[in-house]
Amino acid sequence: MTILGIDIGGSGVKGAPVDVARGELLGERFRVPTPRPADVDRVVEAVAEVAARFGDFDSIGVTFPGVVVDGVTRSAANVDKSWLDAPAAQLFSDRLGKPVTVLNDADAAGVAEVAFGAGHDQSGLIMMLTFGTGIGSALFLDGTLIPNTEFGHLEIDGADAELLASDRIRETEDLSWEQWAVRVERYLRHVEMLLAPRLFIVGGGVSKKSEKFFPLLDIRTPIVPATLLNNAGIIGAAIAAHQAAGGPGPQDPGAIAVDAAAPAAQG
Ligand code: BGC
Repeated sequence: MTILGIDIGGSGVKGAPVDVARGELLGERFRVPTPRPADVDRVVEAVAEVAARFGDFDSIGVTFPGVVVDGVTRSAANVDKSWLDAPAAQLFSDRLGKPVTVLNDADAAGVAEVAFGAGHDQSGLIMMLTFGTGIGSALFLDGTLIPNTEFGHLEIDGADAELLASDRIRETEDLSWEQWAVRVERYLRHVEMLLAPRLFIVGGGVSKKSEKFFPLLDIRTPIVPATLLNNAGIIGAAIAAHQAAGGPGPQDPGAIAVDAAAPAAQG
């Protein structure tokens, strides 16, 4: 069974076939730039372009940078507003002629990290946080995803946390690592006060530079960088698609069958 994972990001739509038993890409990733504007029609075409690169496949998992419930995209903080309440899984599935599973981008990255990366074999409450254009969160209890948490939008000092401490803000406000770390620490302390996780896993591009800011953080919770780097979303999306197709797994992120008459798969 060939499963593709595709990650819709702020600057690129990236995909590859994935070995879901090993958590590895089966070939080189193919990337197209994220269309501008990143509206539903253009992004569906971009995903189709990436998928077409890999010939035949059985099912596909797609990440989305917002809330996804039963294959429908329910929020659009950093993407075109045409995604609000879009039947994303159905639209991708109609276009690709295959079963498609759509899940939140941070959830996908977390699924991969918990299965094969920094969260492997960790019990209790684990929190993945991705610092990029926004702040994404994924919460796991004993390896099971609690989907669609949006802890990047916690209010900190009256502001949306991701407008204070995302990596995009570090860049646009030209913050030094020290300045940015103060904000990240403020944010992480708030999160640990609310949830007391056993471990923070930090993903997003900035996870490659963890040595620049981890030593500056004074928090109680152990913190580690993601280990699957840029591929976590792709791998997690494919794992979710595999689970939706009947493979073993901790969650059902809302698959939809290719036959429009069939109901969305329920966990
Ligand atoms: C969205 C989340 C997403 C995160 C990272 C936030 O603005 O609300 O759903 O996971 O950005 O892309």
